[in-house]
Amino acid sequence: MYKFKAMINNKFIETKTQLEIINPDGLEVCGTVSALSKEQINHAFLAARQAQKRWEKLGLDERIKSLNRWKELLLENKAELATIIMTEVGKGYKDALVEVERTVEYMAETFMQAKDLQPLKLDGAKYGAPNKQATFTRVAKGVGVAISPFNYPINLAISKIAPALVMGNTLVFKPATQGSLIGARLGELAVEAGIPEGIFNVVTGRGREIGDEIVKNPEIDFISFTGSVGVGKHLLEVASSKDVVLELGGKDPAIVIDADNLEKYANEIVSGAFSYSGQRCTAIKRVLTTNEIADQLVPLLVKKINNLTVGKPADNADITPLIDLKSADFVWELIADAKAKGAITLTGDSRVANLITPTLVDHVTTEMRLAWEEPFGPALPIIRLNSIEEMIKVANASNFGLQASVYGTNIDQAIEIAQQIEAGTININGKSQRGPDQFPFLGVKDSGFGTQGIGETILSVTRYKGIVINN
Ligand code: NAP
Ligand code: G3H
Repeated sequence: MYKFKAMINNKFIETKTQLEIINPDGLEVCGTVSALSKEQINHAFLAARQAQKRWEKLGLDERIKSLNRWKELLLENKAELATIIMTEVGKGYKDALVEVERTVEYMAETFMQAKDLQPLKLDGAKYGAPNKQATFTRVAKGVGVAISPFNYPINLAISKIAPALVMGNTLVFKPATQGSLIGARLGELAVEAGIPEGIFNVVTGRGREIGDEIVKNPEIDFISFTGSVGVGKHLLEVASSKDVVLELGGKDPAIVIDADNLEKYANEIVSGAFSYSGQRCTAIKRVLTTNEIADQLVPLLVKKINNLTVGKPADNADITPLIDLKSADFVWELIADAKAKGAITLTGDSRVANLITPTLVDHVTTEMRLAWEEPFGPALPIIRLNSIEEMIKVANASNFGLQASVYGTNIDQAIEIAQQIEAGTININGKSQRGPDQFPFLGVKDSGFGTQGIGETILSVTRYKGIVINN
């Protein structure tokens, strides 16, 4: 049983009530964190504001020194951190460990890129102003808010936190409820690393209870949010700052245009759709292909899906219990709706509590909810269409536009299709995915606003400051 506290100004916060964290594998309480009051949240912002100028003035090298110790502590404690992640979000232990290691690499690369940033030097002579010599440098925006989702509780937190802090901002960080144990542990390690007071503050509590209080705070200079479309849109309406980066949901299509390499395509589709039980924003969430190709592809998918293991995160099963019962109910509802309207399940289609077996749903049509809604679980629809033009049309008819993948041997044709797909990134002959973390990562339409990825996040947490010398 974990017992962690929120952390404000390097102090661990006692609260009258605690937030209980439920282990997805067993649905029992596995830990508690502080449930903060509005006053305590306000205090976090005041601490962040007070500390900001001092932190910025410390200079990049000193900030990196401080943050580097934190990074080392993450690495030294990686087994413990992975166990917490496994326990509170039901991710397989090995994958949780990979997440911690990826996060440490993310930090290292962030510090390197921050050091490599060069000011923009402009000679006015080129623009008809020979007396002007300008230097534009990236400087901190001030006090930021980072709000992260449950599914990558350390990686999607640090990918906001490390760039913001290294560039001289201070932060109020709100982890997802399922993700608060690791979030609060990050706070403990920050204090242990000697990061000065007020720089990094962890506020815990349910989003629906404290979320508005957080994002409406007048001290906020910028917000970085990753989560669902509904919460992201609500945040845009109520937030005090309009400087917002949103990374939201997806309905990434896998578009299969020929049958030349189906074994490889099937491997990519199964791993893309079912890793972490489909609880990835970039998971493949629909397959668009022709009847003829589907007739050959589907049996391969069935075989591979039947080889996936179903069970416990501690045993590194491929499919583990979903984050909670409500999420499992939603996936179940989408499968039921598809079946009621004539679709056929070829694998899985069974459930015990929040553990749903990997379910391939064939003959899904555009009348079914599963064609459009994001299950965030192990349910993959096959939508059989008549032509490539129809595949592009259905791909683009979605309100989402995170990523897509196109599978075919004719690369020129695949690129031509990619150019017509409305999404942040299109992978050719490979599943949709965020990494490498140096790549820009973005969604269009309802999938997001603004860009992440190491270099892009550094830009989003800074602004230019120009000094122009007039001779
Ligand atoms: P979520 O329910 O939207 O929660 C995301 C975060 O928002 C959590 O910290 C949540 O706290 C908080 N929150 C809830 N209500 C809030 C409010 N009124 N104001 C401010 N914050 C509030 O999403 P999730 O279930 O954790 O994650 C799954 C979704 O995120 C999926 O749609 C997935 O596609 C998307 N996602 C997108 C990306 C990307 O980069 N594009 C990456 C990962 C996930 P509580 O947990 O306390 O409610
Ligand atoms: O859940 C959304 C993550 O940003 C996806 O990251 O593609 O590395 O699994 P990933």
